[in-house]
Amino acid sequence: RKRRREEDDDDEEKDCESEGSDSDEEQIAEEKPLGKTSSPEKETEEQKQPEVKEEEKKPQEIKEIHRKADESKPAVFIPVDRLPEIQEARLRLPILAEEQVVMEAVRENECVVLCGETGSGKTTQVPQFLYEAGYASSGGIIGVTEPRRVAAISMSQRVAQEMNLSTGVVSYQIRFEGNVTEDTKIKFMTDGVLLKEIQKDFLLQKYSVIIIDEAHERSVYTDILIGLVSRIAPLRNRRGLPMKLLIMSATLRVEDFTENQRLFRTPPPVIKVEARQFPVTVHFNKRTPMEDYTGEAFHKICKIHRMLPSGGILVFLTGQAEVHSVCRRLRKAFPYRPNRERTVSANTEVSKTSRRAKKKNVCLPKISLDNYSALPVDEGDEDRQAGIDEDDGEGSDLELGDHPDSDPEEKSDPSIPLYVLPLYSLLAPEQQAKVFRPPPAGARLCVVATNVAETSLTIPGIKYVVDCGRVKKRFYDRVTGVSSFKVTWISQASANQRAGRAGRTEAGHCYRLYSSAVFGDFSLFSEAEITRRPVDDLVLQMKDLNIEKVVNFPFPTPPSGETLISAEQLLISLGALEEPPRRGRLNEMERARLSCPITPLGRAMAAFPVSPRYAKMLALGRQQGCMPYIITIVSAMTVREIFEEYDRPAGSEEESSRMAGKKARSVQMRRLWAGQGQSLLLGDLMVLLGAVGACEFAGCSQQFCEGNGLRYKAILEIRRLRGQLTNTVNSVCADAGVFVDHKMAPPTDAQVVYLRQIVLAGLGDHLARRVQNEELLDPKWRNGYKTPLLDEPVFIHPSSALHKTLPEFVVYQEIVETTKMYMRGVCAVQPEWIPKLLPQYCHFSVPEQSPAPWYCPQTGRIKCQQQSTFFRVGWKLPAVELD
Ligand code: CDP
Ligand code: MG
Repeated sequence: RKRRREEDDDDEEKDCESEGSDSDEEQIAEEKPLGKTSSPEKETEEQKQPEVKEEEKKPQEIKEIHRKADESKPAVFIPVDRLPEIQEARLRLPILAEEQVVMEAVRENECVVLCGETGSGKTTQVPQFLYEAGYASSGGIIGVTEPRRVAAISMSQRVAQEMNLSTGVVSYQIRFEGNVTEDTKIKFMTDGVLLKEIQKDFLLQKYSVIIIDEAHERSVYTDILIGLVSRIAPLRNRRGLPMKLLIMSATLRVEDFTENQRLFRTPPPVIKVEARQFPVTVHFNKRTPMEDYTGEAFHKICKIHRMLPSGGILVFLTGQAEVHSVCRRLRKAFPYRPNRERTVSANTEVSKTSRRAKKKNVCLPKISLDNYSALPVDEGDEDRQAGIDEDDGEGSDLELGDHPDSDPEEKSDPSIPLYVLPLYSLLAPEQQAKVFRPPPAGARLCVVATNVAETSLTIPGIKYVVDCGRVKKRFYDRVTGVSSFKVTWISQASANQRAGRAGRTEAGHCYRLYSSAVFGDFSLFSEAEITRRPVDDLVLQMKDLNIEKVVNFPFPTPPSGETLISAEQLLISLGALEEPPRRGRLNEMERARLSCPITPLGRAMAAFPVSPRYAKMLALGRQQGCMPYIITIVSAMTVREIFEEYDRPAGSEEESSRMAGKKARSVQMRRLWAGQGQSLLLGDLMVLLGAVGACEFAGCSQQFCEGNGLRYKAILEIRRLRGQLTNTVNSVCADAGVFVDHKMAPPTDAQVVYLRQIVLAGLGDHLARRVQNEELLDPKWRNGYKTPLLDEPVFIHPSSALHKTLPEFVVYQEIVETTKMYMRGVCAVQPEWIPKLLPQYCHFSVPEQSPAPWYCPQTGRIKCQQQSTFFRVGWKLPAVELD
């Protein structure tokens, strides 16, 4: 079953910087399985000794270690000039006590695993230890990978600040931006960025150390990187270019790395850092709200703020829209207004009635945009402004008075100001950085976050945690390969991790918005992402690194054979991998083991930071000036949901009529963008082109987007992606000479035909055919389409440009399941294109009365007429001439 993707997921953002690939060819995965050279059990035992005993060694043996460490200290020691207050704060971090042990282990081993509670100082301090020990002094860079952009940016800034160095020395690189210079010594980056660098320089020669941070998150790129770097480090050492690998993780299941014979020849030592953790009292809810957990979170925060002693509040929600919705409600309930005297600051003597009376004057019960702009703009207001600007209009933000359970008391008890800050991955870096700064004097900090605050970032001064118990995750359907975002329960390990955030500076409290019975049903640990998602993009990247036998790759947790097979098969049918030789009938497992090598088309596709289906379209886009259109279509399809949705329940009558008006306008504009004749056959993709084109002509203004039902943020993202893809296209094919023509003229009819063919070539496995003789069938098939993989009928979505046209053959971008299964992103295709453009999906036969094969002087090939049928479903296609 296919489901729709959701718009604002926070955590699926993965970076994959894209550039040309001229990798240093190394057959890493071809090496025989590791750990077989000597008795693995014996080695494991030997290696484990030091780590198990580490605790008991003190003090006698530790001295010995320190003495040895002193002896082997590199000649260079790079002094760092830290500010006294920074130095003082550092000394309080648990990791500082382990510096010698860590550095000793790094010197003695190729790879070291370091685990310690979040907040113990791993991310900020270990790169500094390595820098001081001279690992960045002879030209090599200390590279640190993070699964999230937020962490890469904020950690680089923090470390630069702690070391009193410029951001040109301690820098970051994420998908669209970075501040790396010639002088960079410590580089924080997302894992996708390093993966792309491996494609350019397999030995990662510019790095002296690679730190893989947050390994417990088990993001796909992190997993792959660990597999790759576990092979790169020994290769480098053998070539006399030593490189160190550090895997850093919260205290969660490190066995997947250390006890994985395929990953490390000798299990790496594990250093555990004990963190000071103050007790956290966990409070469960009696009941578990199934729907309105954001409302529940809001009420809980109000209660904490009104009734409990000072201390920061950290709230875990699932997505950006929820975060903004709760932030807005909190700001309405507790307006924080800097630069004004707090009328009721610490005056506890005020009687309830007089307080109520005062509230009337003090509070802004309804804050409109005008009120915001009227307030003096400083930090707090900027945030409020940001909260509104960035709001994507999805949260159901009820006026407090409208809320069914609203307690009038909650509306306003401003005795202590509440300083509300949002936090999620895609938030602008300047906004994110605010959570690390102390709140304004006298105010209570309240950070409303997604699970980005679970492990990546430690926010100082948090005493109360409110945990909704849920997380937004991407799921994917193994059969149909369609992915969707769903909110699910977290694992027990995650819940405990979230609770732990309350006990960093003093004893704290964690309020779980679910019952202990529900907690008991949580799984113990979260699954590694790689087991939950399609891997066709990864398999392509790995093939591009010449890892042909992907099944033999040392994944910390291998994806299922089934997932690998379907990835390999998709890539074969897209022409990215060579078709395996047909030796009789091979079963699917054997096919996968055949380890098909990458084709030149596959190499070109691997250079694009988009999924292989879209990469194929880009690789084919160089005809008839279609490239700028294909780049735009692919960018728009990659950015989720460019249209505003008007189907959410409206709060008031006025709002619903406003929404109806906007919806009508949006439908009208889509019809206009779809056009007539040929352009209409490009269907929803024409609408995307039209929308982006119109926006560019209107100067990409927010006003234009809002007036025409487009999401402004999506349009900006498309703009950036178009720029990036254009650069990539130009670097992959130097003669392509494409430039981003923001103001694109609409495609000609001839170009539209090419565009439809290119889209068919990329989305070939998403072909659907309108059911024939529908009157003979069940009425449920009326206007329905059949797809090769689903038994049920699918329909063209009512919002689609082709909803009324109903072409015989279409390809679709995705299937959304609401009341019916709807295809979205639909484009009409001609049946005679299918055998020519998708031969891999067709069975061919020579028609009975066909002419004899003939010689074609233009191509110099023998041609013959062939009849074809589409695989699995056996749709008969028109006879065509083929070579
Ligand atoms: O990586 P790990 O979770 O072990 O800790 P860390 O991120 O290195 O953080 C160590 C300490 O630095 C924490 O107690 C944070 O509160 C503090 N920190 C900070 O104050 N400001 C930042 N931008 C980052 C960290
Ligand atoms: Mg960390």
